[in-house]
Amino acid sequence: MTAFAPAAVAANAFVPPAPESQAPPADAATASTTAPVPRTPHASASPFDVVHDRAGTASLKWDFAAERGRPDTALPLWVADMDHPTAPCVINALLWRVRHGIFGYTEPDAAYNATLAAWFARRYDWRIDPAWNVITPGVVPALATAVRALTEPGDAVVIEEPVYYPFREVVEQQGRVVAPAPLVRGADGVYRRDLEALDAALTASGARLLLLCNPHNPVGRVWTRAELTELARITGRHGTLVVSDEVHADLALPGHRTTPFASLSADAAARTITCTSPSKSFNLAGLQVANILIADPELRARFRSALGAAGYSQPMCWG
Ligand SMILES: Cc1ncc(COP(=O)(O)O)c(C=O)c1O
Repeated sequence: MTAFAPAAVAANAFVPPAPESQAPPADAATASTTAPVPRTPHASASPFDVVHDRAGTASLKWDFAAERGRPDTALPLWVADMDHPTAPCVINALLWRVRHGIFGYTEPDAAYNATLAAWFARRYDWRIDPAWNVITPGVVPALATAVRALTEPGDAVVIEEPVYYPFREVVEQQGRVVAPAPLVRGADGVYRRDLEALDAALTASGARLLLLCNPHNPVGRVWTRAELTELARITGRHGTLVVSDEVHADLALPGHRTTPFASLSADAAARTITCTSPSKSFNLAGLQVANILIADPELRARFRSALGAAGYSQPMCWG
């Protein structure tokens, strides 16, 4: 059962065949047998049926296939970057900002903070304090920063494979060691956590850090509250810090709801770094903004210090 829609598989890069209800009107068909079939969807079609040409926009997936050793004609379904425009309200806000014409250094202001807090309260019933937020240029940079901040070279870090490939990269490329706790695919095709194996991996490796993918890419699971509670119990017993990548939180399909790991309890909040971003929900990956929520002041200071050591300070202007 796939419970969320990873954008990588949602990318719709082909011209869909027009369903009968969208066929050109009869007079168009009879007017000329050689007239080209219009590709503009019927007025009642969903905006998601419109096929946009992104060629020539320096798009990683469309314009750089050949450079990445793929034929120019390959359908680029590998990256979670949708071929749909973002929401009109986002475009309007960006246009307003662009027309202002001055793009100096900025900080999140009161309006930004209020919007952020309202988003998590409304969607997840999770009361965050905007003071928890540290902005980074993306979730993957935040995963890498957290690994640097919370572990030393040679330390073990638990990941639950199969998982989005940068999870392994941010560990190994920084001289840490992956302690695998693989997910197990049941006879029903659903991936689950093997709690005993996880417990054993934490004990054997001595790992103090686990990278959680919540919801999980690529297995398509929105972890249930019960599953996350079990994870919190085991990691709590080991004193393991958790970095929870929640970039796909908003894409849970109907009938499923993401539970932010840190929202489970005060204990979970105190040892979790939650990586959130509007990039998947609103197709804004190219704008490079992620909100990293860290309730514990000491963890937050360590994270900020590692981010600062990499030379990063202000986010792109967004307000
Ligand atoms: C699980 C997961 N985390 C993070 C990212 C990328 O996030 P960002 O572009 O903010 O670094 C992706 C992109 O596909 C993803 O699937």
